[in-house]
Amino acid sequence: MRTEPNLVYSAPARVLHWLTAGLLLIQFVLAWTMPDVHRDTKPVGLIAWHLGVGMAILLLVLVRCLWRSTHAVPPEPVTLPLALRALARYTHRALYALLIAVPLIGWANASSRGWPISLFASIPMPPLSPTGSPTGHALGDWHRNFAWVLLALVAMHVSAALFHHFILRDRTLIRMLPSSDKR
Ligand code: HEM
Ligand code: HEM
Repeated sequence: MRTEPNLVYSAPARVLHWLTAGLLLIQFVLAWTMPDVHRDTKPVGLIAWHLGVGMAILLLVLVRCLWRSTHAVPPEPVTLPLALRALARYTHRALYALLIAVPLIGWANASSRGWPISLFASIPMPPLSPTGSPTGHALGDWHRNFAWVLLALVAMHVSAALFHHFILRDRTLIRMLPSSDKR
């Protein structure tokens, strides 16, 4: 028997999407309010929160990629020109890549500072770079720069979602909303 294609993202895909978005927002607020990091800075207070939330984002995005690679997504609106559909697909891939690269680079930088890294403040994680490593130290700049690129892509992504909803008036945003099952 032929079944109708599912026209909304599955509930787990939507939960993972909005959890990532929420945690990323908190992560940028933490990054911009935590004290400046210097050679003898200790990973406490807001800095410890930045490391903890960042590791949670990394885990969440890995789970999300696993889910995405094993489950189908709803078909794209056919009314959209091919080039725009390709742009959306590449933007999503770039978002996933940066959501993995930015925390990994931050982790390597933290390790080069000799900071212990853990998951949920309880599961110790191995260092990604030796303490005092000049390369690991230089990764601090890369971490900050890639975080800006990630932010720019998110801004583009959110603008596209709003453009779909308010100008093109299609179902692109609706199928990612928490209540989309009822629509
Ligand atoms: C998606 C996740 C993450 C985002 C968006 C992010 C974003 C940022 C941003 C914007 C800064 C610069 C703050 C400033 O200008 O003062 C920063 C600094 C930093 N972050 Fe992250 N971060 C993430 C994950 C992580 C993780 C997982 C770790 C380590 C486990 C980490 C460790 C650091 C460190 C050590 C610095 C200071 C770098 C330096 O100044 O040399 N971050 N982060
Ligand atoms: C803030 C951080 C955000 C990140 C990192 C993010 C990331 C992503 C990614 C990677 C996808 C692709 C899902 C897939 O695998 O197919 C996606 C889809 C989507 N996102 Fe976001 N998103 C964010 C925020 C938002 C916001 C604020 C909105 C709405 C205003 C939004 C609306 C959508 C929509 C409508 C889709 C489905 C697009 C489509 O099917 O073509 N996202 N998002």
